[in-house]
Amino acid sequence: MTHPNLNPRKAAIIGCGFVGSATAFALMQSHLFSELVLLDVNFEKADGEAKDIAHGIPFAGAMNIYAGTYDDIADAAVIIVTAGANQKPEETRLDLVHKNVAIFKGIIPEIAKRDFQGILLIVSNPVDILTYAALKLSGLPEHRVIGSGTVLDTARLKYQLGQHLHVDSRSVHAFIIGEHGDSEIAVWSSSNVSGIPLNDFCEMRGHYDHAASTREIAEKVKTSAYEIISKKHATYYGIAMSVKRICEVIVRNEKSILPVSTMMHGEYGIDGIALSMPAIVGLDGVETHVPIVLDQEEQEQLRRSAETLRQVAATLEL
Ligand code: NAI
Ligand code: LAC
Repeated sequence: MTHPNLNPRKAAIIGCGFVGSATAFALMQSHLFSELVLLDVNFEKADGEAKDIAHGIPFAGAMNIYAGTYDDIADAAVIIVTAGANQKPEETRLDLVHKNVAIFKGIIPEIAKRDFQGILLIVSNPVDILTYAALKLSGLPEHRVIGSGTVLDTARLKYQLGQHLHVDSRSVHAFIIGEHGDSEIAVWSSSNVSGIPLNDFCEMRGHYDHAASTREIAEKVKTSAYEIISKKHATYYGIAMSVKRICEVIVRNEKSILPVSTMMHGEYGIDGIALSMPAIVGLDGVETHVPIVLDQEEQEQLRRSAETLRQVAATLEL
């Protein structure tokens, strides 16, 4: 990701609501960037968030954070898009598709026409559909258009398993894949705790009813957003930390494996739609998918998830 128009220490966030402002706050404390531009259709909102966060800089270290325009963000290494409507209680992410695709039709071309050379990181929902839409609307290379996908869901799964097993969630290795949404899949067959198969570790901790435990935990993960939205109207800290982690992997060229949302090209028989599959991520975005081993049921669930997304994408005029 080296280009004369690209500043490797600069990021931009489009959409400064709950998610965008929480993400800006997380990035300010990460020291990943020395310049952060906040852009919102409501300039005063972006300006207020920038000024509020800037007053923490004496505690966090130097960073130039300001409200800007599309001309200010074209040379960013990463542009994060959190603009758009969020879910009301009981509303699904897919229910947001037409509102937010319309918003993306106003945003993405403004980025593409300015010779943007960085990574476009989509967060707005439905994130898989909007990643697909951003690809079509921007014409950018696929490896540079990434959705946060099930990075947040996978973190939720690791957290729930850590709680269940009384072990550091960072020692839990498990993925949620497919749609960031109601059709997501917990990949139990390859889950482990520091290489110990999950069921063996569960029994070590006195849990033997694996079917009941995995069903309960997968449901908790899948319904997390609905529960939080019913209590506080939106989720934003978990996703902000997820976005910070994705930016870290990009900026540091970590080549880490993250379940980001990207276009599929035949893996598991799925083609032409964006969904979350573990992928190697680094400075140039997605290097390659890591097609993890899935059992028959998980493969069938993934194909159903892909079909759900394909049916929605087919209704769009991009
Ligand atoms: P919000 O309503 O608090 O903020 C949205 C912001 O977008 C507002 O400040 C609004 O002025 C701005 N905006 C709207 N149209 C715009 C445009 N054309 N250009 C620039 N800015 C524009 O909503 P919130 O809670 O921050 O959620 C934002 C999105 O993020 C939603 O779609 C939500 O579903 C999604 N989200 C995704 C998650 C994920 O895991 N992928 C997790 C949490 C939220
Ligand atoms: C979440 C929703 C809002 O997972 O996408 O938090």
